[in-house]
Amino acid sequence: MTEMTPVTDTATAPKAVPALPDAQTVTEVKHYTDRLFSFRCTRPASMRFRSGEFVMIGLMGDPHPETGKVKPLLRAYSIASPSWDEELEFYSIKVQDGPLTSKLQHIKVGDEIILRPKPVGTLVHDALLPGKRIWFFATGTGFAPFASLLREPQTYEDYDEVIITHTCREAGELTYGRDLIEALKTDELLNEVIGEGFWKKIKYYPTTTREESPKMGRITDLMKTGEAFKDLGVPPLNPESDRAMICGNMAFNLELKDMFEEYGLVEGANSNPQHYVVEKAFLD
Ligand SMILES: Cc1cc2nc3c(=O)[nH]c(=O)nc-3n(C[C@H](O)[C@H](O)[C@H](O)COP(=O)(O)OP(=O)(O)OC[C@H]3O[C@@H](n4cnc5c(N)ncnc54)[C@H](O)[C@@H]3O)c2cc1C
Ligand SMILES: NC(=O)c1ccc[n+]([C@@H]2O[C@H](COP(=O)([O-])OP(=O)(O)OC[C@H]3O[C@@H](n4cnc5c(N)ncnc54)[C@H](OP(=O)(O)O)[C@@H]3O)[C@@H](O)[C@H]2O)c1
Repeated sequence: MTEMTPVTDTATAPKAVPALPDAQTVTEVKHYTDRLFSFRCTRPASMRFRSGEFVMIGLMGDPHPETGKVKPLLRAYSIASPSWDEELEFYSIKVQDGPLTSKLQHIKVGDEIILRPKPVGTLVHDALLPGKRIWFFATGTGFAPFASLLREPQTYEDYDEVIITHTCREAGELTYGRDLIEALKTDELLNEVIGEGFWKKIKYYPTTTREESPKMGRITDLMKTGEAFKDLGVPPLNPESDRAMICGNMAFNLELKDMFEEYGLVEGANSNPQHYVVEKAFLD
């Protein structure tokens, strides 16, 4: 997803080299694998969002070789931090020839990124009817919106059980999610605000498909055989008690959607809350 809006024309206005439009300052960068990193940045004082939403972020592109025009290079990114956090966090892929992430992967503390403060998205509590158990289904960087929702008090106010499944190719790709969930246990603020031991509602189910790990296989296959439900000690999803959010690659999203329709779950939206909602982790 690309937005290419010229913001300056260095050929006709060489002195007008503005600061980045909608600039925010990077405050922390962590690298997990050669394909994954996360970073935090300042948050515009007026920016409000609902945990689970995404925004457009990016960097200035290279000057056009002939006109010298410089345009922002923007991509959709789920906000990985919760709505109450005073900073913003993002969890990112590094695509070596990707127009944005070939550069974004090199950002350092103190650098500026562009952030369009207009959050949108379907992975929000408002799009779901009340239920007993919420499922978050992610592949790869699709974990990002759930990194926000797992730190959102409403998740624990609305549900008795919170199940997060994360399927990745390799074990190292699970690190960001696993560390984040582990850190909830000792997060003093959240334990005080939501209630001591709130994290006991979470059942974390990480799986890998191409490298050895304690649980191998695609979550979809593990659900079809019943193994995932047995491991988790819960029955298959049903419309009375279960609500779900999906964020992964296109094939994953479509396969889960088909399975959910068989379970009798209905897809919801902001304007029509139902049993489950879906968002792409990236465009293909
Ligand atoms: C609603 C939405 C939310 C998104 N949220 C995130 C997010 O939180 N974190 C994130 O890293 N990306 C996210 N993306 C993808 C993001 O917009 C960019 O595609 C990504 O940053 C790569 O940008 P690029 O310019 O380097 O390469 P692009 O030209 O955008 O992509 C090049 C190719 O890389 C692959 N690719 C792109 N993104 C990913 C990814 N996330 N995981 C695996 N393969 C990928 C695809 O095959 C794609 O065709 C989101 C996309 C959408 C539509
Ligand atoms: N991850 C890497 O090490 C790597 C390295 C170089 C390039 N790439 C490229 O980068 C792109 C994205 O790779 P990615 O690994 O981030 O994401 P991905 O290909 O979307 O895979 C992420 C996880 O989702 C699983 N999955 C895929 N389709 C599924 C479905 N229908 N149901 C259930 N699970 C499903 C995959 O299992 P399977 O393994 O069974 O497909 C994998 O474990 C791809 O085009 C890939 O070729 C990835």
